[in-house]
Amino acid sequence: MTQAVINPRIRGFICLTAHPEGCAANVRRQVELARAGGPGKGIGRALVVGSSAGYGLSSLITAIWGHGAEALSVAYERPGQGDRPGSAGWYNLAEVHRLAKAEGRHVETINGDAFSTEISDQALARLKARFGKLDTFVYSLASPKRTDPINGETYGSVLKPIGPAFTSKTINLDTDQIGPITLPSASETEIAATRKVMGGEDWFRWVEALAAADLLAPGFRTVAYSYIGPQMTHAIYRAGTIGGAKDHLEATARRLSADLQRRCGGAAWVSVNKALVTQASSAIPVVPLYISLLYKVMRQAGKHEGTIEQIIRLFRDHYAPGRTPTVDDHARIRVDDWEMAADIQAEVAGLWERVTTENLASLGDYAGFKREFRSLFGFELDGVDYAAPVEVERALV
Ligand code: NAI
Repeated sequence: MTQAVINPRIRGFICLTAHPEGCAANVRRQVELARAGGPGKGIGRALVVGSSAGYGLSSLITAIWGHGAEALSVAYERPGQGDRPGSAGWYNLAEVHRLAKAEGRHVETINGDAFSTEISDQALARLKARFGKLDTFVYSLASPKRTDPINGETYGSVLKPIGPAFTSKTINLDTDQIGPITLPSASETEIAATRKVMGGEDWFRWVEALAAADLLAPGFRTVAYSYIGPQMTHAIYRAGTIGGAKDHLEATARRLSADLQRRCGGAAWVSVNKALVTQASSAIPVVPLYISLLYKVMRQAGKHEGTIEQIIRLFRDHYAPGRTPTVDDHARIRVDDWEMAADIQAEVAGLWERVTTENLASLGDYAGFKREFRSLFGFELDGVDYAAPVEVERALV
C-alpha cells in the first residue's frame, strides 16, 4: 500500500492521473441526488455496461440508490498500483462499492473489455449464480475501438464528416485558443468502422446473449444513449461518422424492442441525452466550444443539468418500470429537450457567431467547462485536501 500526493497531468482532452478522494466526492454527490430523486425501489436487478464514468456511472447510481436495484456493473478501468494512480472510473466504482457495502446493498463489477465474449460470458455466469433475471440493462459504452468477437478484427472509430470536408471553429484545450479546424471527409471504410464501434451491434449481441441464457425478467427494459445536437456540430456529429453509428444504434433499439415485446413483454429504447463534459465528448472537435457556450446559456436560464440530473429525469419520467416513455417520431426518448429548446439554441447560435479567443471568458463558460473536465478526474473539488498524500490502491469491495 502506497500513499502519494496526486496532481493533475493534463494533455489536451486527456488527464493521465486521477484523484481517489475527488472521484469519491463526485460519487457521493451523485448518490445523494439519486436518493432524493427516486422512490428508492421499483427495480429488482440491473446490468449496466459502461458503468464507471459519465452517463453509465449516473445510470448505475440511479438504478441502485434511486430505484433500489441490485446491480452488476461492467467497465474497463485501470486500478491504482504502487504510487501510480488508477483511472478515474476505477476510483468512481471503488466509492460506489464502498457506499453500497456500508448500506448492505448488492453491487458487483466485472472489469474488462465488454466487447469480448469472454467478458459477456463472465457477466452471464455471474448473473445466473448471484443475481437472477434482469429487470433492466443500460448500455453506455463510449470507446475509440472495438474488436469484433466473431471475426477478430479491430475497428477504430473516427470523428469526420460524411460528405464534403467541414471547416468550423474549435478550441485548443492546451492553449485555450479558438481557431479554425478543417475535418476531411470520411472514407466508406471509416464510416463502416465507426458504425462497428459505436453502433448497435454489440448492444444487440448482449441482449441476445441475455435472452439465450434466460436472464430476461418479464417486462425487461433496456436503454442505450444517443445524441443529436445543434446545427453548429451537425456536420461533425449527427451528419458525421458518429451520427451514422447513432443511426444504427437507434435502428437497433427498434429491432430489439420488437423482439423483446414478443419474448418477455419487454422493450428497448434509445434516449437522446444532453451534450455534457465527459471523457468521450471532450475528444470531439468543435463540441467543447459548443458546450462552453451552452453551459453559460443553460445556467443563466436555470436549466443546467449534469449526467446525474439527466439520468434521474430519464428514469423518473420515462424509463423506470411502470412508466410509459414519451418518444419522438423515431421512437426515441428525448432528455435533450431542454438543450434543444428553440430559445436556448437561438441564443447559443448568436454567441457562436461572435465568439473569439478574446471574448470567450465573457460570452461562454469555458472556465466551467475546464473545471468540470478536471472534476471528472477528481480534481478541483471543494473539501478535498490535494496537498495530502492519499492511498492509491483502492479495492472494489
Ligand atoms: P464516458 O467516456 O464518460 O464513459 C464511457 C464508459 O464506457 C466508461 O465506463 C468506460 O469504462 C466504458 N468503456 C469504454 N470502453 C469499454 C470496453 N471496451 N469495455 C467495457 N467498458 C468500456 O462516456 P459518456 O459520454 O458517458 O458516453 C456514454 C454514452 O452516452 C455514449 O453512447 C455516448 O455517445 C452517449 N452520449 C454522450 C453525450 C455526452 O455529451 N457526453 C451526449 C449524449 C449521449
